[in-house]
Amino acid sequence: MKIEIITTFPQIIEAVIGESILKRARDRGAIEIEAVNLRDFTHDRHHTTDDEPYGGGPGMVMKCEPVFEAVETLIARTRGGNPRVVLMTPQGRRFDQSVAKELASCAHIIIICGRYEGVDERIREHLVTEEISIGDYVLTGGEIAALVVTDAVARLLPGVLGDESSPESESFSSGLLEYPQYTRPADFRGYRVPEVLLSGNHAQIESWRRAQSLERTLRRRPDLLEVAPLTQDDRRLLSELSARVAKEDSNADH
Ligand code: 6GU
Repeated sequence: MKIEIITTFPQIIEAVIGESILKRARDRGAIEIEAVNLRDFTHDRHHTTDDEPYGGGPGMVMKCEPVFEAVETLIARTRGGNPRVVLMTPQGRRFDQSVAKELASCAHIIIICGRYEGVDERIREHLVTEEISIGDYVLTGGEIAALVVTDAVARLLPGVLGDESSPESESFSSGLLEYPQYTRPADFRGYRVPEVLLSGNHAQIESWRRAQSLERTLRRRPDLLEVAPLTQDDRRLLSELSARVAKEDSNADH
């Protein structure tokens, strides 16, 4: 898979990608990630990528020509296939694990980092295939958002994480929050690891973990329970837990 990130700040992208897990994945050839400098697709002396808005008003607007030329060049450079062309913007579809999974199935993604106060609307209308936001807050530019998307997508690809780690077993893949984890020592300053985890009884450990995931999700992210795949046992446990949580809440009110 190839991810190309078009930006006026390629150093930001390289600084993050050039470290740690993504660097190793790239060196191993598990993924291609490249920062593409938008200024390389300008033709004036000042390498202008933005201009004043028609109709007046504050701020600058990202120009069409360099962005179109950059995307068209990247597409022409790849043999066949039609890449996803993603615009990072707070106006986009909200990014989550299911969007990450969907993008992880693509062979080629081009990400455009929105900068400044906006982008020329014709980029939206005639160049991009989708717009993505990473949440309901405003960043100064799309670079950090593009890195969030790149990281979340990359770690789902085979060969990016180590062999033992399985992105499928963690938070959100099951639709639930992850169960609590512990490592040695079993007693740290009198804070003990739950006895069941030391028991060696794998069936018991499994069911304890499932119960912990369910309780945690109920307390912290009850919205996730509406769409998570749940068994009969899960539902039975959840209704007991709900009663307990409701009682705690009413006690806390008094
Ligand atoms: Cl994709 N860009 C910017 N500038 N701000 C954001 C965002 C993107 N997602 C959330 N806030």
